[in-house]
Amino acid sequence: MAPTDKATDPTANRTEQRVAALEVKNAEALAGGGAERLAKHKEGGRLTARERIDVLLDPGSFVEMDRFVTHRSQNFGMADKKIPGDGVITGYGRINGKLVYCYSQDFTVFGGSMSRTQANKIIKVMDMAVKNGAPMIGINDSGGARIQEGVEALAGYSDIFLRNTMSSGVIPQISAIMGPCAGGAVYSPSITDFIFMVKDTSYMFVTGPDVIKTVTHEEVTKEALGGANTHAAKSGVAHFATNDDKHCMLMIREMLSFLPSNNVDDAPVLPTSDRPDRVDESLNSFIPDNPRKPYDMHELLKTVVDEGYFLEVHQHYAKNIIVGFARFNGRSVGIVANQPQVLAGCLDIPASKKAARFVRFCDAFNIPIVTFVDVPGFLPGTDQEWNGIITHGAKLLYAYAEATVPKITIITRKDYGGAYCVMSSKHLRGDVNLAYPTAEIAVMGADGAVSIIFRDAIKKAGDKATEERTRLTADYEEKFANPYVAAELGYVDEVIEPALTRKRIIDALEMLKNKRDTNPPKKHGNIPL
Ligand code: HXC
Repeated sequence: MAPTDKATDPTANRTEQRVAALEVKNAEALAGGGAERLAKHKEGGRLTARERIDVLLDPGSFVEMDRFVTHRSQNFGMADKKIPGDGVITGYGRINGKLVYCYSQDFTVFGGSMSRTQANKIIKVMDMAVKNGAPMIGINDSGGARIQEGVEALAGYSDIFLRNTMSSGVIPQISAIMGPCAGGAVYSPSITDFIFMVKDTSYMFVTGPDVIKTVTHEEVTKEALGGANTHAAKSGVAHFATNDDKHCMLMIREMLSFLPSNNVDDAPVLPTSDRPDRVDESLNSFIPDNPRKPYDMHELLKTVVDEGYFLEVHQHYAKNIIVGFARFNGRSVGIVANQPQVLAGCLDIPASKKAARFVRFCDAFNIPIVTFVDVPGFLPGTDQEWNGIITHGAKLLYAYAEATVPKITIITRKDYGGAYCVMSSKHLRGDVNLAYPTAEIAVMGADGAVSIIFRDAIKKAGDKATEERTRLTADYEEKFANPYVAAELGYVDEVIEPALTRKRIIDALEMLKNKRDTNPPKKHGNIPL
């Protein structure tokens, strides 16, 4: 007998009728916006709000809350249109066995739009996530503020923004953008730690193509304006551009395997079959002889981390710096590395912002930072100066300086000028600073240095100017383009054989396991934003 029949079956006892009535209500809620809207939503392979949660969480672990909540709006005929759940599914479950909270907006119900009651549901799980010290994952797929509700919807958004801010640095917050996310709605994800978008089906913008056309006369498609590729590569708003809904959910699971549940928890340690004392002889010839020749820093990273596995964050944005998670002897670390293959590994505005935010995330969540340095300096140019490389570069400096987690630095080749100070130097409380014999630590490269300090001598050499320049450059290189001056001063703790990189990093992490360091008490610092 169907539950609907049983609920009214006069032969069933009262309890049986009530249980059957619950089943009817549950079925109503599970139907979301109805079969037609669900079928339309799934066109093109998208998952429903509930299917997304099923992929995200360990099987059978999801516990839903507030399934029967409905809106209280009376305007524009809304009193007659109520759908249980009101366009968002909220609750908790497990990822890799660890507690997480989540919400998933259901576009089939009022376009997933934000009502007062939808906001209340989201707020409830956000508050629980903080109280119980567990990550919060928001799956966004919404037409924005519920237009019929006016300021009530805006109030709901604001209440969420406040909680995003209060939770920042307390629990990891992750946003998946899996459909529209426009107007003020973008600001909740942007406060969270990581944004995952889905290629071709998600977009984020403050004002859409129509408004832009009216105001600036620019013509742009939704995809070009705020699609996953745009935000992953151009604006840097998104940290990951995933292939489809399932890939997006699986990537979030993957990322969480590196993170602690909260700011007083330690980063997880996973078993590994990769030996901690593994030596890689190929690294002894890895750095090119010619200092102008680029190499791929990814290759170096892969040879030293556990099982060659590196989860890159912001892979397509500011490629001159690499950031992401890896493990050493099972222990999670955040990696920051200059990439000599792109812009010679220079620090520019996007690279400084990207790395600074990543360093601060790692520091907030007790994840040690391992920094690989090969940096010729800050990128010169009017574009950089006029757009504020001074302020933005300072963000990275500030982030490293205030970070109290274990900080290990490996200088592989160039480490020049202000960038030397910035890149987790001893002077910014680097705990273990190592250098390869190929390291060059100086105020600037030999060519530039000789042009400045020997300008007169070269002029006076007349016909012999070229020879004189070559001699002086070689002399400068001999004196400064090496790691030993810094090592003599104790700014580098050890000059290491590159083959030993993995072992030395693991030794350092082990030694720093119980590191305690603090900053002076204050309300908060004033990072150059
Ligand atoms: C109420 C909404 C809605 C909204 C969509 N729907 N957005 N209902 N409030 N904001 C409803 C539609 O009426 C429709 O209902 C169903 O959801 C699906 O919408 P469609 O338009 O049929 O879908 P689609 O063609 O895929 O277009 C999606 C869309 C479009 C591009 C998102 O719906 C749209 O432009 N929506 C309005 C976007 C917007 O301007 N939002 C306000 C932004 S300002 P039926 O019953 O027909 O299925 C904002 C401020 C936040 O959000 C500020 C925070 C501080």
